[in-house]
Amino acid sequence: DVGNATNIAWHHSSVTKEDIHKRNNHKSCILWFTGLSGSGKSTLANAVNMRLFQRGMTNDNDESSTANVPLHSYILDGDNIRHGINQDLGFSDEDRVENIRRIGHIAALFLDAGMIVLTAFVSPFRSDREQVRQLVNRNGYQHEFIEVFCDASLDVCEKRDTKGLYDKARKGIIKDFTGISSPYEAPENPELIVNTGETQLDECVDKVVSYLEEKGLIP
Ligand code: PPS
Repeated sequence: DVGNATNIAWHHSSVTKEDIHKRNNHKSCILWFTGLSGSGKSTLANAVNMRLFQRGMTNDNDESSTANVPLHSYILDGDNIRHGINQDLGFSDEDRVENIRRIGHIAALFLDAGMIVLTAFVSPFRSDREQVRQLVNRNGYQHEFIEVFCDASLDVCEKRDTKGLYDKARKGIIKDFTGISSPYEAPENPELIVNTGETQLDECVDKVVSYLEEKGLIP
């Protein structure tokens, strides 16, 4: 579907994803963190990103060590996207759908570029996350969309209220707030569930990184 554009054709790159994976010594994938505001998506995505980055910088003396393989990863999160390419969007259902649609396409481009993409968006609607999964599948990736449910209860998130937004939402100062006045549809079949409400950050990071290793996405 090309929307309003006509007379355009998709350009296929002659460098294949297999070529890129071979050069990088790791595969690309999308770690799609989803969860309530304050559930720890950005914190976890950042910590995983740091772990992946440091792993490639270890300079292990053993040349065959996997620790010497630089891992190319990149985070897309609310701050850089909503302040830039999606600055025209708010938090109505319609705008959230469009927010996730665009982010999905951006993530898919980074995936093609060979990156381990980490996205940290509430992405409250199941159908939107499913659309991204299908886009990734259509692009020839069958197991590379990894939905990571940051499972922290509303109660925990509201008690944390790091940005004071829940308080404002309860008072009606912020409308359409996820979990309060706008729905959050938890994943039914996510690749990973991380209990970011109660589990230590390091343990959560271990779980995500182990998954990448087990699936052979990273050495
Ligand atoms: S969405 O639903 O995926 O389009 O949202 P996202 O782009 O991830 O943006 C969520 C962050 O925006 C702040 N914020 C709100 N969240 C939910 N509902 C409403 N109405 C809202 N207004 C502002 C909030 O700080 C979210 O950040 P996180 O990091 O998730 O707490």
